[in-house]
Amino acid sequence: MQDAPAPLIDPFARAIRYLRVSVTDRCDFRCVYCMSENMTFLPKKELLTLEELDRLCTSFIRLGVEKLRITGGEPLVRRDIMTFFQGMKRHLDSGALKELTVTTNGSQLEKFAGPLFDAGVRRINVSLDTLDADKFAAITRWGRLSQVLRGIAAAREAGLRVKINTVALKGFNEDELFRLAEWCAENEMDLTFIEVMPMGDIGNEDRLGQFWSLKDLRAELEGRYALTDLAERSGGPARYVRIEATGQKIGFITPLSHNFCESCNRVRITCTGEIYTCLGQEGHSDLRAPLRASEDPAVLEDAIRKAIGLKPKGHDFDYSRQTVDGRVSRHMSHTGG
Ligand code: GTP
Ligand code: 5AD
Ligand code: SF4
Repeated sequence: MQDAPAPLIDPFARAIRYLRVSVTDRCDFRCVYCMSENMTFLPKKELLTLEELDRLCTSFIRLGVEKLRITGGEPLVRRDIMTFFQGMKRHLDSGALKELTVTTNGSQLEKFAGPLFDAGVRRINVSLDTLDADKFAAITRWGRLSQVLRGIAAAREAGLRVKINTVALKGFNEDELFRLAEWCAENEMDLTFIEVMPMGDIGNEDRLGQFWSLKDLRAELEGRYALTDLAERSGGPARYVRIEATGQKIGFITPLSHNFCESCNRVRITCTGEIYTCLGQEGHSDLRAPLRASEDPAVLEDAIRKAIGLKPKGHDFDYSRQTVDGRVSRHMSHTGG
């Protein structure tokens, strides 16, 4: 029996318990704030294989990761990805992993909701910014709302809890705040709003013009509902309130109006095996080379510890001086949000 190894602690005494893994940079949508219309994607040989992904996640779990979230691009467009989920189930069964989950655009859920549940997934996050079919087509460029709504229904039928993630966009979904909240309440789904972050070149879009502060959004909600701040956490960056009248939970992810980096518990792996220890910084280390150099987990785990030792204090996103500061050059789809 091996002794349990020391957990991953970063230079600011934060324990790393949450791993986000992007399994593909590809996506079947082209959301305007996320991608340009003509994206160049990586050749297949650059990607970690499913077997490498398994070894990598297994090492992180051995080092104390308890929450594993699969992201993309769109994770469910990666070929045979269910094989990977099925493999991770053994870590749920052993109790080492507390939560296996996914962030998806919902387009493939009709097909995959059942298999995800069978692999031990109990809760998923679906990105959805509008309930208006024309606006949905405009913001995702290639997506169709009806397909995503069918996917969400399939997820709920399969027994998955669904949380909706909505990027708050000025002049785009401001007028849908209450409709979105009511639709989520009717369908027993939580809802989280996210402030738009300056990530990647997205063509001519104007980040500052898009920015809708969640302080303002919250104030608008408070105009209609009594809200109570909740202490509970989902292990991610969201802070929650409850709408007293309905009991519904609403989350706020506020990288710009309120920095939450001091309690950061997560790191990200890209589909090529780079580890980014902060979403909002450029610093990263390579884990693919050690993965491919040796089958010995000790080699990889040594590289993981070195990378965690470089985790920065936080991001520098800032729009407050009417300029876009702290932007990072890579797209959100590269690190999976
Ligand atoms: P829960 O498990 O439901 O709490 O989910 P989560 O918020 O951890 O995961 P999700 O994939 O739904 O994340 C929502 C979004 O929050 C991401 O896509 C990012 O945009 C943002 N986010 C998550 N972590 C960070 C972070 O460390 N820094 C910043 N700036 N944004 C983050
Ligand atoms: N700022 C904030 N959220 C973003 N997402 C994608 N790009 C951005 C951005 N620039 C969101 C998606 C999805 C999650 C993975 O990240 O809408 O909910
Ligand atoms: Fe795809 Fe998500 Fe980016 Fe939209 S936000 S293009 S669904 S990865």
